[in-house]
Amino acid sequence: MRNATLSHSDPTPVAAIANNRQEVLERCVERVRSTSRIFGLRNPQIGNAEYGWEYCQPFDWVISFYAGQLWLAYQFNGDQGLANLARARQADLNILLSNLAAQDHDLGFIFSLNCVADWKFTGSHTARLMALRAAEALRARFKPNGGYIQAWNPRGTADAARSTFVAGRIIADTMQNLALLYWANDETGISDFKTIADAHAETTHNYLVREDGTSFHTFVFDPTTGAPLRGETHQGYAHDSCWSRGQAWLVHGFAQCYRTTGNPVYLETARKIAARAEELLGDDRVPLWDFRIPPHEPQYLDSSAGAILSAGLFILADATIGEERTHWRAFAERLLDGLIDTCDLTLTEGAQGLLDNGAAHVRRGSVRNMLPYGDYYFMEALMRSLGHSRFCW
Ligand code: GLY
Repeated sequence: MRNATLSHSDPTPVAAIANNRQEVLERCVERVRSTSRIFGLRNPQIGNAEYGWEYCQPFDWVISFYAGQLWLAYQFNGDQGLANLARARQADLNILLSNLAAQDHDLGFIFSLNCVADWKFTGSHTARLMALRAAEALRARFKPNGGYIQAWNPRGTADAARSTFVAGRIIADTMQNLALLYWANDETGISDFKTIADAHAETTHNYLVREDGTSFHTFVFDPTTGAPLRGETHQGYAHDSCWSRGQAWLVHGFAQCYRTTGNPVYLETARKIAARAEELLGDDRVPLWDFRIPPHEPQYLDSSAGAILSAGLFILADATIGEERTHWRAFAERLLDGLIDTCDLTLTEGAQGLLDNGAAHVRRGSVRNMLPYGDYYFMEALMRSLGHSRFCW
């Protein structure tokens, strides 16, 4: 296993570090360009031991993270071929729009990363209309009793356990999906999109974020009455632990919600969760998969949590001023440089991804993998660190 207690490295001159990030980003863009020839229209799902990929089945929640990387690479170098490859993937998204049973809260990720990006970066009206249809479908998942967007779906009527498990359940990850609703509100002026996104963010703030700034991964409401029942984990170590990627989704999500709406509650929430993450990280530079993993349990890293958290902290830094801004930026850079120093695969010959040591789902044995979302947020964090400001969110 890689070193799980990586700590601050010796100081390096600021310009040298920035140059290094620029070089890493250039290598990421080159890796995306070169792998696009291998992938065709397949989308990476999870890395294998040889640093190749297993690919997504239709409608996988991660289906658009490679398209997101193609759009970032296009932003970086203007290569029309990369934009074309991202757009070609929209045919599958059109099929998803017609398949209600396959739609869940991840419509936000799936359509923001490809169709909203296409609209914002190239003005594609087709992509805009697809993203608006997805936003309508996401809005329809809102449960007024309880005030939340349900995360997951039952799998048919035969699986009673699954139906019970998903009913009334919210998850931290959904905060990232709200960007699609806020975007749809901006585009159309239809206030429902924002009202529902705000209601879900408030519910998340009230029930997923604990008083001490840690978070539950999921929270369950009575599906009929909307009464709050209990916090639980799904991918973390324990119900009362703090799953690192969930904490990272919340920092990025609340910081992004504040940037979009200016609601000070979102800023306060992002600050509180980020401060707690910083405390729990201690001297490490790459998070363990759960911030409260006991010492006798497997100490796997989750590079994706580090990448998402870093990107979110750059948004938080940009939302603040003075010493506070400097503080969040330094924390974001510490995480980013930790990833560069220990998990970066862009100098590894033959690797088809960008970051090693992601932990998709530890209890299912998915550890030490390349992950397409880790790769996407690594590029987003690198670009934010270098002053880029146009993203799909
Ligand atoms: N959104 C699912 C995950 O973070 O694994």
